[in-house]
Amino acid sequence: MAFTYDENGQLTADGFLASELATEFGTPLYVYSAKGFTDYFTAFQKAVAPVNGKVHFAVKANSNLAILSLLGKLGAGADIVSGGEMMRALSAGIAAKDIVFSGVGKTDDEIRLALAKGVGQINAESIAEIKRIEAIASEWAIKAPVAIRVNPDIDAKSHEKISTGQKSTKFGIPIDNGDAEAIYDYIHHSDHLIARGLAVHIGSQLTDLSPFEHAYRKLISLAESFRQKGYDVPILDLGGGLGVDYHGDSEPDFASYGALVSRIFDGLDYQLGFEPGRSIAADNGMLLSSVLYTKSAEDKDFVIIDAAMNDLIRPTLYDAHHRIEPVTQSNRPRRISDVVGPVCETGDYLAKGRDFAEMESGEVLAVFSAGAYGSVMASHYNTRAHPAEILIHDDKVHVIKPRKSIEQLLEDEYNPFS
Ligand code: LLP
Repeated sequence: MAFTYDENGQLTADGFLASELATEFGTPLYVYSAKGFTDYFTAFQKAVAPVNGKVHFAVKANSNLAILSLLGKLGAGADIVSGGEMMRALSAGIAAKDIVFSGVGKTDDEIRLALAKGVGQINAESIAEIKRIEAIASEWAIKAPVAIRVNPDIDAKSHEKISTGQKSTKFGIPIDNGDAEAIYDYIHHSDHLIARGLAVHIGSQLTDLSPFEHAYRKLISLAESFRQKGYDVPILDLGGGLGVDYHGDSEPDFASYGALVSRIFDGLDYQLGFEPGRSIAADNGMLLSSVLYTKSAEDKDFVIIDAAMNDLIRPTLYDAHHRIEPVTQSNRPRRISDVVGPVCETGDYLAKGRDFAEMESGEVLAVFSAGAYGSVMASHYNTRAHPAEILIHDDKVHVIKPRKSIEQLLEDEYNPFS
């Protein structure tokens, strides 16, 4: 674990005191550990080493250029879902051939950008999209490398807003009604498309591995049937989704996931692709925030902090649990508290009904497992600047995203009446 308490009950981040980081860089502050990212990414790579695979980090989980660059140097490709993420991955030094372009709604401009840069693979999700890619490739007299993302109709048993494998969702191409085969046949016969294979991603934050197994077996049986028909299916892209422990501090179970993949794909001749995001990033980032005020209600206390739903929306959006602790442990009496932000919405909370040591103004709290889907989902709601972001690397602290002033935020707009 990147963030641990020392013998004096002080939270540390790779040797730095969290309280001092908060003072020096201000709060709210995202703190990342380069060592943590490196350890987790390497552990994932090692777990899937027995199979022929390439790990494409899901950029949407944490798209800071420094993080992408760090992972790129460790051998990561990128799984992207927009032209913006393509620009980020390239700018971080990840080669275009190591980029997989996922997503259900790519625009012409995004497809053009990806093809112009030489993207490794576009995962298409409908016949309409395939035809747009083909039209652009034909205009440029090139062949576009495409895979199709299928919808295996499998329940990932995760939160409904992040489950993507059932046929009621917008994702992927259905298998059972013959659509996947018809589209693959179309690709096979096209002069401007190269069939790269099949992709699946059934959801995020999976803590039970069995839905992965169901999805992967369905993918294999489809791929085998396509091969029997004479289609090329070199790649199976297995998506992301491995869950993390938001309640405790155990590491993601990379080994069990790797063992499952090895068992299922042993002896089969496919290049595999992986798209982990959360499992690499979540535990290696935390959000530090200062207590502004406390106040008591009838049956609980409110700890009002300077981070809010615009800085970390997961609790509000998915009822997600993040462990929250003071950076200095204490023996003060405990209270049942809601940890809330300053935003004017009842839904603006980071935790509800927690058993929490009494807090005082100015004290700093750490919101753990905030390295994935934290900063990337931040907004400027209530005209609040995004938190600053720092990365600890080799005993140095790098400010990898400085905090903007409100003046800078206002400069983004144009007022024709002034
Ligand atoms: N590949 C595809 C095609 C995806 O859609 C996703 C995530 C991933 C890979 C990475 O999945 P991961 O390994 O991170 O589970 N904002 C939500 C999570 C949304 C996930 C969207 N897709 C949250 O905060 O829980």
